[in-house]
Amino acid sequence: MSRIAYVNGRYLRHRQACVHIEDRGFQFADGVYEVIAVKGGGFVDEAPHLKRLHRSLDELRIAPPMSDAALKAVMRETVRRNRVVDGILYMQITRGTAPRDFPFPPGVRPSLIMTARVQRPIDPTILDRGVRVVTVPDIRWARPDIKSVALLPNALGKQHAREAGAYEAWQVDGNGNVTEGTSSNAWIVTAKNEIVTRHADQAILNGVTRVGVLQVARDAGLTLAERPFSVTEAKAAREAFLTSTTNFVVPIVRIDDATVGEGRPGEFVRRLRALYTDFALKGVVR
Ligand code: PDD
Repeated sequence: MSRIAYVNGRYLRHRQACVHIEDRGFQFADGVYEVIAVKGGGFVDEAPHLKRLHRSLDELRIAPPMSDAALKAVMRETVRRNRVVDGILYMQITRGTAPRDFPFPPGVRPSLIMTARVQRPIDPTILDRGVRVVTVPDIRWARPDIKSVALLPNALGKQHAREAGAYEAWQVDGNGNVTEGTSSNAWIVTAKNEIVTRHADQAILNGVTRVGVLQVARDAGLTLAERPFSVTEAKAAREAFLTSTTNFVVPIVRIDDATVGEGRPGEFVRRLRALYTDFALKGVVR
């Protein structure tokens, strides 16, 4: 079965699915995106993803290409045509196509593309053994809170991790604090059993999974702190983990060459993964 993409009003086979060479997404990374998990044919955390999409569009002054009701219909049709039951939906909106020039072109229509693909459940050995992250300098622009398609630093960081045999790279700011992963948020659990993740300012993407994990942790009565933490603090932490749409909650057992805690996934990460998975699946909308 060939994969089908939605491109500006048409459902096309991937081979035929193209955007214009003067699309501003291609020329300037002038666009935003969202990645939404599909479970049992429905969407996980659909409302917060659409809310964040609107926030990103507003920040860049890109007009929504259609109403939310129409967007939701296209999301469902893209998933249906690709027969995705468990997987991900990718959606990208750019400012549109216009002769290459830096200022916003007047009267241009935003481009919308969507793809969906099947994704196998996470390898259980990843959850049983935990993963390693390596640290890299955070070389991104000053607004990573906007989910823009300008992902070159993230791609470079992830490639560095891949070449180092690690699962993810944690980006580190000029003060030695971890901002976030290249495609995930970063967390630690301190010796005092405090669950720490960086506060959501302009330096990180406020992950939808991050917000969900904060909520389930709060509901479970766990101690939370949203503040910066350093690489040194992380290496000395009791536990560490990452969160994202595609991973949910994944334990980290090594940071660079330092072993975290006892070098195996701890009780907090196991509990938070179970709580978040339950929360996410209950919130699936069809
Ligand atoms: N990445 N930080 C960054 C830089 C990200 O790219 C992502 C998501 C996250 C986690 O956000 P969420 O919980 O909303 O997925 C944090 C997506 C999955 C991606 O680019 O594939």
